[in-house]
Amino acid sequence: MNDDWWRNAVVYQVYPRSFADGNGDGVGDLPGARERLPYLAWLGVDAIWLSPFYTSPLHDGGYDVADYRDVDPRFGTLHDFDLLVRDAHELGIRVIVDIVPNHSSNEHPWFKEGRRDWYIFRDRPNDWESVFGGPAWTQVEDGQWYLHLFDPTQPDLNWENPAVRAEFRDILRFWLDRGVDGFRIDVAHGMIKADGLPDAGTNDGRQIEMLGRGRLPYFDQDGVHQIYREWRPILDEYGAIGVAEAWVESPQRLARYIGPDELHQAFNFDFLLADFDAKSFRAVIDKSLAEADLVGAPTTWVLSNHDKHRHVTRYGSLARAKAATLLMLALPGSAYLYNGEELGLDEVLDLPDELREDPAFKRTGESRDGCRVPIPWTEDAWTRPWLPIPARWMAITADKQEADPDSTLNFYREALRLRHELSGLLVWCEAPDGVLHFRRGRHHVFVNISEQDTPITGKVLLASGPLNAGALPPDTALWSAE
Ligand code: GLC
Repeated sequence: MNDDWWRNAVVYQVYPRSFADGNGDGVGDLPGARERLPYLAWLGVDAIWLSPFYTSPLHDGGYDVADYRDVDPRFGTLHDFDLLVRDAHELGIRVIVDIVPNHSSNEHPWFKEGRRDWYIFRDRPNDWESVFGGPAWTQVEDGQWYLHLFDPTQPDLNWENPAVRAEFRDILRFWLDRGVDGFRIDVAHGMIKADGLPDAGTNDGRQIEMLGRGRLPYFDQDGVHQIYREWRPILDEYGAIGVAEAWVESPQRLARYIGPDELHQAFNFDFLLADFDAKSFRAVIDKSLAEADLVGAPTTWVLSNHDKHRHVTRYGSLARAKAATLLMLALPGSAYLYNGEELGLDEVLDLPDELREDPAFKRTGESRDGCRVPIPWTEDAWTRPWLPIPARWMAITADKQEADPDSTLNFYREALRLRHELSGLLVWCEAPDGVLHFRRGRHHVFVNISEQDTPITGKVLLASGPLNAGALPPDTALWSAE
């Protein structure tokens, strides 16, 4: 297998709870995911990234880990995990797992046993706010307070304690020894807090608005890089990669997480956050490529994940979503897909409140449940799914789409197949307002975000929608070859 596979890989995010249910209990699991590997191989992905499947009370969908070295019984067993890795590798698919080092569950034995020096306990709280809303501190019986940048059930670990660092290096090895090809590092910008835990200076809900936009005393502190410098030799020993989930203020700050002595990649959320607009896309693409170049790493692209509204809904139509997908998949670097986007799934906005499980919902009224609704493989793939599947998705189940050459699913498959032909630097070509046009080698990429049809050149390889007498209509993208 090639060491540099990740540089232009397509990585498919599996949210285990919602992906596929192997035992019919309404909750997705690892055996279910394993059964769908042939589908993923058929689709043409290079790797899967599994969101957490570890032992967890699931207060934050598993991002609250109670045992970093075991599988939650609802998701299966370690043996199921081993079988999944084995089968994936046989199909040529790499496996990346999520690691959650910023915080554990409050049900982790470390917390329950009262190891206060493994967490951040203080006699008095400061003004920090939780990302999920409200204060970031909760008081315990003897009057002390502990820090939780997320839910109160997710106490922050104390990364100034060498024992915590040693423990996580060991956890990395545990999964590397089981054959994983890399880690997606949750809240990779969070583990080190500013010395003395200084106030942020505002505590009226505005800290949340600064996430990823400004500097806060609990995110993106320089000390965090030392951790990745300690991890990198371990990753290198196994030929594995590290991908940072880091919400930081600029591509320059993001670039500091990647490079030969830190991590391999970082999610480029600026692309996901860009408006459906030619100027915004172009600005983000130029900036991201320039910054990634500086550190000699490829950039990553992502449009949907388990934390954001699905891009069909964000952009307002399937046509636009497919155009953006074709843009993303034509860019140099690697691309991350989120399970179900290949079916054109939209956000489920009308879930009944009592079924919503996202801890942020109670604290902020915003919920990420609508992108976590189980995948409609067939009309009856799920009995009692943990979130109800909308009736409208019965027309776009995976089995129906597999059989339909014009489906969104077959469009994704074709894009992943043709993507291998696109290589070389991205060179912008002159284009009318609202139209993106670039070249990679002998291939051309057009994205029409204007109000009029636009002419194209070359022989059409793939388009995200029908052409109009040879011209590219609005909200449509196309790849062609000279
Ligand atoms: C990351 C995860 C998100 C989780 C949070 C806390 O942002 O993507 O789902 O809630 O970290 O672990």
